[in-house]
Amino acid sequence: MTKNIKVKIKENSYEVVIGANNFLKSRKLFESLKTGNYPVVITSSKVYQLYKLQFLKIFGDKNTAGIIVVPNGESAKSKEVFLRTLNRIMGFDKVSRTIYIVAVGGGTVGDLAGFAASVYKRGIPVIQVPTTLLAQVDSSIGGKTAIDFNGVKNIVGTFYQPKRVITDIEFLRTLTDDDFNQGIAEAIKYGIIMDKDFFNFLKVNKLKILSREPKALTNLVAVSAKCKAMVVSRDETEKSGLRTILNFGHTFAHALEGITSFKKITHGEAVAIGMAYAAYLSYIMGKTSENEVKAVITLIQAYNLPVTAKYEPKQLFKKLVYDKKFSGGTVRMVLLSKIGRVEVVSDISLDLVRQTLKKFPGYIDKYV
Ligand SMILES: NC(=O)c1ccc[n+]([C@@H]2O[C@H](COP(=O)([O-])OP(=O)(O)OC[C@H]3O[C@@H](n4cnc5c(N)ncnc54)[C@H](O)[C@@H]3O)[C@@H](O)[C@H]2O)c1
Ligand SMILES: [Zn+2]
Repeated sequence: MTKNIKVKIKENSYEVVIGANNFLKSRKLFESLKTGNYPVVITSSKVYQLYKLQFLKIFGDKNTAGIIVVPNGESAKSKEVFLRTLNRIMGFDKVSRTIYIVAVGGGTVGDLAGFAASVYKRGIPVIQVPTTLLAQVDSSIGGKTAIDFNGVKNIVGTFYQPKRVITDIEFLRTLTDDDFNQGIAEAIKYGIIMDKDFFNFLKVNKLKILSREPKALTNLVAVSAKCKAMVVSRDETEKSGLRTILNFGHTFAHALEGITSFKKITHGEAVAIGMAYAAYLSYIMGKTSENEVKAVITLIQAYNLPVTAKYEPKQLFKKLVYDKKFSGGTVRMVLLSKIGRVEVVSDISLDLVRQTLKKFPGYIDKYV
């Protein structure tokens, strides 16, 4: 089963090709685009080790310029790894070759490779082959690229669309549960913000999804990719504000990640908690009903994701206030209307945020 999704962008439309065993077919799938004649592959050490035989089969020929293996996780987005990567790319770029980048990995590899491709010679083509659930449902689509700098995440980056995204569901078999959950949290987000049927699909197919049944996963990835593609197509560079809805649950999540300094909590867990908090705040503000809040909490818990964390309300509030979305005593956040629909509310009082941060853990305790 293969599903193709089109990301329609003015001058850079491209396809997301989703299916099983697409990695083995990837050479055909990207060479047909004629973006160059020598691919430079960028991957992470874990992915390279796990899929070495496939890499050799696909990229073992003399027309592959080279394979760059970068460290696992966020350290791939450090300035040192970035500079090393540029250096290697330059080394592979010989006269008579037209090189292009193929990023095979999670969101970190995609962000690094996309950024390097966007600045090397003012832009060479990049193909994304996402290997984590998060990368397949979120980061490989939309053209945001970035590296981290001086301890600040994603502070240096570009908007640079890939030429094609080739998604292979088979990669998901080897993911750890923690890494799998990162993607689930973002998939639940799409259900909440824009697709009630998908929300129900996630509810009904929980067991199939958690046991990583290929058909259920293909559907999950395809619908998520479609949601992301739809938002990005209408707001490529975050100008109209539509792309903001993708931040549902993220204001709170980023603050929580900030006070736990990225280590004790994963991004997926923080987003899960952030979505429960955003739903609760929406209810307190009369934007949604309590039933919707319960539906959000129940679905998050069904996937063994947390809905609350031990935090010091004052400390979290302080972190939230430092967030760039806060100005003049009010805050802008994405709030829930009903499952499948959200609105961006820009005049939420800081006082209300402070109060709800205090009350939220107690409210959640009723359901846990
Ligand atoms: N560009 C965007 O729009 C966007 C959106 C969301 C997140 N992001 C970025 O994505 C990054 C997180 O991505 P991630 O969650 O994919 O993390 P990741 O890239 O660090 O991957 C997680 C771990 O899984 C390993 N891995 C990858 N594929 C595997 C597989 N098939 N089997 C087993 N192990 C595998 C990796 O080597 C790594 O150790 C963050 O840096 C975040 O800022 C970017
Ligand atoms: Zn996220």
